[in-house]
Order: sequence, then structure tokens, then C-alpha cells
Amino acid sequence: MLQLPVYLDHHATTPVDPRVLEAMLPYFGERFGNAGSSTHSFGWEARDAVAAARETIARRLGAAPTEIVFTSGATESNNLALRGVAEHARRRGNHIVSVRTEHKAVLDPLEHLRRKGFEVTLLEVEPAGCPRAGWLDPQRVAEALRGETCVVSVMLANNEIGVVQSLAEIGQVCRERGVPLHTDATQAIGKIPVDFGSLPVDLASFSAHKLYGPKGVGGLFVRRRGARVRLEPQIDGGGQEQGLRSGTLNVPGIVGLAKGVEIATDDLPTEMARLRELRERLWRGICGGVPDAVLNGPRFDPPEWRLAGNLNAAFPLVQGEALILEMKDLAVSSGSACTSAMPTPSHVLSALGLDEDLVRASVRFGLGRGTDEEQIEFAIERIGEAVGRLRALSG
Ligand SMILES: Cc1ncc(COP(=O)(O)O)c(C=O)c1O
Repeated sequence: MLQLPVYLDHHATTPVDPRVLEAMLPYFGERFGNAGSSTHSFGWEARDAVAAARETIARRLGAAPTEIVFTSGATESNNLALRGVAEHARRRGNHIVSVRTEHKAVLDPLEHLRRKGFEVTLLEVEPAGCPRAGWLDPQRVAEALRGETCVVSVMLANNEIGVVQSLAEIGQVCRERGVPLHTDATQAIGKIPVDFGSLPVDLASFSAHKLYGPKGVGGLFVRRRGARVRLEPQIDGGGQEQGLRSGTLNVPGIVGLAKGVEIATDDLPTEMARLRELRERLWRGICGGVPDAVLNGPRFDPPEWRLAGNLNAAFPLVQGEALILEMKDLAVSSGSACTSAMPTPSHVLSALGLDEDLVRASVRFGLGRGTDEEQIEFAIERIGEAVGRLRALSG
């Protein structure tokens, strides 16, 4: 039996996997200790759980346990990385390089730094209409770097159009110039293979609720091997997390984050192939019902260009917001949930140079672990009906 509404907004958040919940539950109950309590078994149990979680996450991501700093989520991780490195590196220079299509959780801390006197260069990406729309050519990074550049920030996978950036090449460029590279990997970890052993990035943000874990917990990878990156803490207090992030550790959340990473990385190749197939079916179905629908973002092939579970499409002559309301029983969105407090047209689609009418006519579909063929068929039907109805109404 098809359960309604059908959830196709997995970039906004994901449901907690029952296996994650099960792993977390004891830490809300009898194992309630503070990981910082060193004088009794309650504390030791919590400390051991955090250490095991850190070990699991590090192993799965090709990091060392000391390179994982727990935070309250990717927004905090981005703030710690960008403000932390910029404040520390101020003597080196006050120039920062990033991209116009970043999430607000990167763009807003950069705006904060700009107000504090940093100069921020936001790079352009391949425009709409190109096969690889949304992609950042590493050459642009090379050309933007200056002697006084103190950090570069490029997201690994985009939350609206799913474009995957060439972080290996960008990292190489940054390494050659000795500039630290941060990546917002929130939409990438658990969705595509990520190995900090080989990927030349220095800082990477991630969040549990995007990988079937709980909300309010995440992490920052901080490279310690080789050229070690230095950060100024943004929260002072008890000195937890090697002094980089004070505050009592969220033990159940951290246990859930580790379980989420474990399950997602176990299932990665099969889940990527399954989602790719479902996404292609959805797009074929949409085009069948709405032949003039426009795909936003990069092509589906080669598969490395785009997240398997992402589809973003414009439906000419309809308003995306009206369409979303019209598609009852379908949970989708027009873009980032994190900016929907103020419904402005997507800055990501605008950065691609997409016509404003098309930006407003766009809908994001995020497929995930719970998505199946029956849901996709239902979605195809609802999209076709709703677009038809709205177009008939407008005349
Ligand atoms: C790319 C990206 N970065 C950062 C965030 C913010 O993550 P959190 O909700 O953990 O603060 C999100 C969430 O939408 C995201 O998609």
C-alpha cells in the first residue's frame, strides 16, 4: 500500500533509520553519562561510545580519529571552518575564494567575514544550457588565488542541482599554492564515495540528518596529517574536542551519526545505482507528461557529474510554489529548506544564469532510501496532472 504523502525532499532532511534510532536509544536511557565525567563508570561508558563513534566515522571516511570534531551540524561546522581558519590566518592574508552556488551556511559566514574586512571572491560556474551546468572549472580557482588568499571553500555536492565538483583537481591547485581548502560535504557524505585519505581537502563539514541520522549533530574533518590546518575556536568553554568546540558532547547524537555513516557507506554502490535508475524513470515520466520540462543542472551521464538522488526541473509557464501546493500528497520543494524562511528565488539557479521565470518555475526532487518505483509512478502522475491544471487555469 502506497503511504501518502510521498516524501521526495531528501536533500532537506532524511528520516532517522530505525537501526540508527536503536543504536541511540540506550544513550537517552540508562547510558546517560557525560562523556567528560572521568570519575565514574557512567562517564566512562559515554566516553567509550564517543570514541567508538569517532573511530567508525574516521575509518569510513579515510580520516584519523583525531581529525573528527563533533559539532551541532553542518552550519556550525562551516562557521567553525571558515571563521576559524580566516581568523587564524589573518596574518597570511585576508582574501577568501568560494563559489556563488554555495549553501547559505557558507555564504552567510563569508558575508560575516566580508563585513570584518576580508575580501571574498565568489566564482562563477558553468551556465544553464551547458552539459555540466553548475560545475566549477578548477582553472577558475587557479586564476582566483592570490598571495594573500587564506582559504578556499567549494562544496562537494550541491543541495539543489546535485552537481558534484572536481574536488581532487581543486585540492591539487590549492595544495600547490599552500592554501587550505574547505568543502561543505553535507550532501555528499553517504551519497558518493568520500575518502579523506586521498582527497586533498583540509576541512570538510557534514551533518547526521542528511544521512538518516538525527538532527542537531554533525562533524568537521580537520586535517592533522601533513600540512596541518590551524583554526581559531568559535565556542569557548570546557575545552572539549581538542579545544576546537567546547560544550558537553551530544552522546546519543554522535552514536547516531556514526551509525548513519556506517549504514550509508555499507550500502553506497547499490543505493547509488538504485537511485539513479529511479531518478531516470522519474525524469522520463515527467518528460512524457510535460514535454517542455527543462532539466536544471548537469546531465545524468556520466554518473559522477551529479548526485544519483537529485532531480531539479523547471516547468515553463507555471509557478514552482503554486505547483508544489497543487501536487498534494507529494512532499517536494523549490530549493533549500534552510532559506525557505524567506522565499526568494533560488540563488543557485540564478547563478546558472537561468531566466527568472524559469527559476520561479523550478522544483527540486530528492530521492532517498525510502523511495520506490510505486512512489515514482505516483509522482509522475501527480506532476503531469498538476502542471496541466495550472496551465489550463492560467489560460
Ligand atoms: C549543502 C548544505 N550545507 C549545510 C547545510 C546545513 O546543515 P545543518 O542542517 O546540519 O546545519 C545543509 C542543509 O540543508 C546543506 O544542504
